[in-house]
Amino acid sequence: MAEHHKPAPAAVPVHDLIRHRWSPRAFEARAVEPEKLRSLFEAARWASSSYNAQPWAFIIATKDDPAGFKKVLDSFVEFNQAWAKNAPVIGLSVAALKMPHDGSQNRHAFHDVGQASTTLALQATALGLQIHQMAGILPDKAREIFHIPADHEAVAGFALGYTGDPESLPEPLKQRELGPRERKAVSSFVFEGKWGTPAPAVAGK
Ligand SMILES: Cc1cc2nc3c(=O)[nH]c(=O)nc-3n(C[C@H](O)[C@H](O)[C@H](O)COP(=O)(O)O)c2cc1C
Repeated sequence: MAEHHKPAPAAVPVHDLIRHRWSPRAFEARAVEPEKLRSLFEAARWASSSYNAQPWAFIIATKDDPAGFKKVLDSFVEFNQAWAKNAPVIGLSVAALKMPHDGSQNRHAFHDVGQASTTLALQATALGLQIHQMAGILPDKAREIFHIPADHEAVAGFALGYTGDPESLPEPLKQRELGPRERKAVSSFVFEGKWGTPAPAVAGK
């Protein structure tokens, strides 16, 4: 597990990998070993997807390639650039918007990119790394910088590496790094019989 822990205070037992995955903004400068990087994307590769279309692609850059790193960083919004610039690896996820078998719109493209990203994130946690995903990207700029084709779209940015010292962050990011992890109750999103009626089997007390 990563050095700086922030385990989820799960209401009922869940797998340790799920409890220990979290989204840090402080990263160690230490590089991510190439074999670990390969393992992360191998994990993403084995995500499930609608029609097994595997609509995901990733554009990555490591700190040891300053020009490539800047290209990815430039496609993040300023708020995210401020902390993501310290991560050893940053990247973008990209969705293929059309089904390869008939060219129709893939309604689940973003969903399945999310699945691959989650698989990658859990593998990262298993290897002592963490990944922080970002909606705060500039998709049009990313398209221009990386020549992303028209039938593809940048979905999210990410930063990954070994978690760093929260003290290295400026306020208010430091407080957020150290703050509690919060979630809605399961009863507020698992329904049975009618929209809005909590499913008794999972609602708890
Ligand atoms: C698709 C997606 C977009 C996100 N966008 C941002 C972002 O732009 N900037 C940021 O600092 N955090 C971002 N986050 C991180 C979330 O705020 C974080 O996952 C959430 O607060 C839950 O915390 P946890 O991942 O540590 O459990 C994003 C997460 C996801 C999955």
